[in-house]
Amino acid sequence: MTRVLSCIQPTGEVHLGNYLGALRNWVSGQHKADVFHGIVDLHALTVTEEPGVIGRNTLQLAAVLFAVGLDPDVATVFVQSHVPEHSQLGWIMECTVSFGELSRMTQFKDKSAKREAEFVSAGLFTYPALQAADILLYDANEVPVGDDQRQHIEITRDIAMRFNHRFGETFVIPKSVTPPSGARIMDLLNPTSKMSKSGDEDTGVIYLLDDPAKIEKKFKRAVTDSETEVVFDRERKPGVSNLLEILAAATGTTPQKAAETYTRYGDLKAASAQAVIAMLEPIQARYFELLNDQGELMRLLHKGNGRAKEVASKTLSRAQKAIGFLSAE
Ligand code: TYM
Repeated sequence: MTRVLSCIQPTGEVHLGNYLGALRNWVSGQHKADVFHGIVDLHALTVTEEPGVIGRNTLQLAAVLFAVGLDPDVATVFVQSHVPEHSQLGWIMECTVSFGELSRMTQFKDKSAKREAEFVSAGLFTYPALQAADILLYDANEVPVGDDQRQHIEITRDIAMRFNHRFGETFVIPKSVTPPSGARIMDLLNPTSKMSKSGDEDTGVIYLLDDPAKIEKKFKRAVTDSETEVVFDRERKPGVSNLLEILAAATGTTPQKAAETYTRYGDLKAASAQAVIAMLEPIQARYFELLNDQGELMRLLHKGNGRAKEVASKTLSRAQKAIGFLSAE
């Protein structure tokens, strides 16, 4: 059976890009494969300094994952720091990736540039090594992600192949899987930049928990262009194309087909807003229910730990044996 792994960071609030690019596909994939989904709190530590914040975000993110439809009896949902094998294999990965390879990661360049005046941790730089550990620990064949994570999956493949070459066949070589629409949702106010949790301009980002009035307002203000024609052309018309992509992803059609239905930007914006509101409504209702019973939420979240640990610890010892560390027993 195909093994699938993908993770999300507990930093900031979950947005429409996370949902359409990743979470939605995790849910639809859970009955087709053996799936593992992690809340990667160690990754959040690369950019979070305040005490208590990561734990709070982790619990809220767990509520989101269950609210969008991940079933803890079907999918193995776990918290990264509860499975210490991630940190242990992470170090081995750091020693299998080069400084040059890490220096080429666009996400590091972007994030470190944005944090110019702030503390840039070494963890932010070595982050892809930990991500490689996340993936390789579970022998994942497929990693369903948004477009922005492709480079990190590529480097994971390179690291796995290098390790296998040095120490013998140990890791499964994974591949990334991106959805046909929704893989790259852009900021509504700045449609040449991806919608992002760390985006400064809140109003260009649709959060999963935004109420209908807020969603309508954000779509109304979405940047389009000075022309009037509704066509899907990412190069020439990034704003309109992003709206079409969102509408298509939310209603299960293609952006090209969606473009044939509308002749005015105003109608396109209103239809996109309504489609997103309808899509998010049941998710929001379940989210608040789950958050109201934190004991039950913790119970659901702890369900996956055992299975995650079982799989991860086997892979870690395989890697340790392949390297030839002296046995502790
Ligand atoms: P993160 O937490 O930033 O994002 C979670 C998922 O959401 C996708 N995504 C988007 N998709 C479409 N349009 C957007 N604007 C958009 N923004 C985000 C991301 O591609 C991702 O799939 N490094 C990862 C977390 C991670 C991970 C892993 C992922 C850690 N270990 C192992 C896969 C496998 C990250 O920061 O994702």
